[in-house]
Amino acid sequence: MCGIVGYLGDKDVKNVLIEGLKTLEYRGYDSAGVSIFNAGKIEKVRAAGKLQSLIDKIGSTGFDGSLGIAHTRWATHGKPTERNAHPHTVNKVSLVHNGIIENYMELREELVACGSVMSSDTDTELVAHLISKEVDSGKDLYEAVLEVKKKITGAYAVLVMSEDQPEEIIGFKCGPPLIVGLGEGEVVFASDVQAIAPHTKKVFYLEDEDVVLARKDDLKIFRESKKIDPVWTELDWSKQVAEKSGYEHFMLKEIFEQPRAFAAAIEPHINIERQSVVLKDIDVSLLKDIDRIFIVACGTSYYAGMYGEYVIEKLAGVPVELEIASEFRYKEPFIPSSSLVVVISQSGETADTLAALRLAKEKGAKVLSLCNTKHSTIDREADFKLYMNSGVEVGVASTKAFISSLGVMTLLATQLSKVHDRVPKEDEQSIVRSLLGLPSVMESVLAYDKFFAKAADDLKKFKGFLYMGRGTNYPIALEGALKMKELAYKHAEGYAAGEMKHGPLALIDEEILIFMLCPQDHLYEKTLSNLEEAKARGGYIVSVGTKGDEQLKSLSEHFLALPKGDFITNPILETIPVQLVSYHVAKALGCDVDQPRNLAKSVTVE
Ligand code: F6R
Repeated sequence: MCGIVGYLGDKDVKNVLIEGLKTLEYRGYDSAGVSIFNAGKIEKVRAAGKLQSLIDKIGSTGFDGSLGIAHTRWATHGKPTERNAHPHTVNKVSLVHNGIIENYMELREELVACGSVMSSDTDTELVAHLISKEVDSGKDLYEAVLEVKKKITGAYAVLVMSEDQPEEIIGFKCGPPLIVGLGEGEVVFASDVQAIAPHTKKVFYLEDEDVVLARKDDLKIFRESKKIDPVWTELDWSKQVAEKSGYEHFMLKEIFEQPRAFAAAIEPHINIERQSVVLKDIDVSLLKDIDRIFIVACGTSYYAGMYGEYVIEKLAGVPVELEIASEFRYKEPFIPSSSLVVVISQSGETADTLAALRLAKEKGAKVLSLCNTKHSTIDREADFKLYMNSGVEVGVASTKAFISSLGVMTLLATQLSKVHDRVPKEDEQSIVRSLLGLPSVMESVLAYDKFFAKAADDLKKFKGFLYMGRGTNYPIALEGALKMKELAYKHAEGYAAGEMKHGPLALIDEEILIFMLCPQDHLYEKTLSNLEEAKARGGYIVSVGTKGDEQLKSLSEHFLALPKGDFITNPILETIPVQLVSYHVAKALGCDVDQPRNLAKSVTVE
């Protein structure tokens, strides 16, 4: 939530900052701004709306300074207006902030009582006032920052500069990510390596409470006020430039990348010759002692976790408790030390999931993370790590990371079943074979893109959407509804089909579209009866089922056929049509598919 960039060096500062913000816009896009030195003074330009408004406003303005800071915002305190946009400048001090200052009310009252005049409704401006006061009292910027850090509580990653020290930027953090990159005579700060990688591959991930004092040829990192020798990380990240490669939206590109993403997620853990699963980097003996698993995540990652819950319990017979991270962290969960806590997070920075990880470690449990972003905070803090390996996901709505997570969850379940002596060898081989075959099947399912592109004008007229499925299809129903809500702003619900008669059936009339996930699995007959009940009440049926299923076809307005699968593969393939329907309905309604309103991709606030 919010992206920050800072640059010191000989390149055109304005361009570096704007290009950096472009790669961070996924973190928030309701306003943006820069502060850059010009003729010895800090010059600030800000604009409400997407980054393009800032770019239009800056136009060809030139800046002669060699350092600056920039921000793209996801509003927490104060509306998304220009006055609330960052940077916030007070006297000689200008700063950008990602996070939330929790003691904001108290600080504001104190500052106002002492005569400070607020020019925004943000919590960030208070930090600028506090630092400015310290600077005015004679402290240098570093000392001022140390003083102010004692006064603020909450989550923050901050970059600050002062007219008194026109050669330096200070960065500090507690919670949200902040990375500093060191190049030849240049320093780049950012919330994400994507903004740094075009300039240098040598990076340092700040720990909480670290303070970085950066000058062009001198970079010092302090931990508890003592200078440390940083351990630099070399990015193994060839220029993964987020480009649409001819697709109209990143989301569509990422949907089409799913066969490759899925293969990249599973292949590191598969021995092709033996057709067996070996989870790399996980202490298999540890899995043997595990008698309970908690899966903790948010949003789409939570639904991937729900699929994991079903598959692990079925294959490995290990009890799984699935938890929403924001609930888990506050409900005083009972976590025996013999448990494994699995946290799933595409970004690896989601504040609630990170807090759940820390809580689990405090209670003595081992934590296994499944992230897409390597070196993210969750990845760094977990005891054992697995990766989605999907490549950079730019669309705010998660797609390829989800499908990769389903693949990795299946491998985890298979590995657990082996250590618990549950799955006969032949079954392991058949799971491996079907997983390896999925990418090419996915290619054929992607052909439904054309169907939804055509049908979208009709489908967009429905008042509401009900997604239904049973067993492992149920998490996909939930994911489908989430996608429809976030992209098309339509009311959508995901339901376990057997639960409909306990209330939600009352919702159904001719204005409701039922998206039924009904493959020919062991629950097929029961799901079909649920479909009949919905149809009898006037619902318009779009079904996804097994090729050749004439009965399902006859009950549906549209029938989308998938090859025969099982409880593992059906949900993975169903994911593609539930993504495509939301994408095309949202597009037909004129919604901003890649950057839906009110959302951001990396949720680093509670
Ligand atoms: C929905 C979506 C979100 C994220 C959620 C967790 O399309 O992307 O629901 O899944 O914010 O994010 P991560 O996985 O980064 O922890």
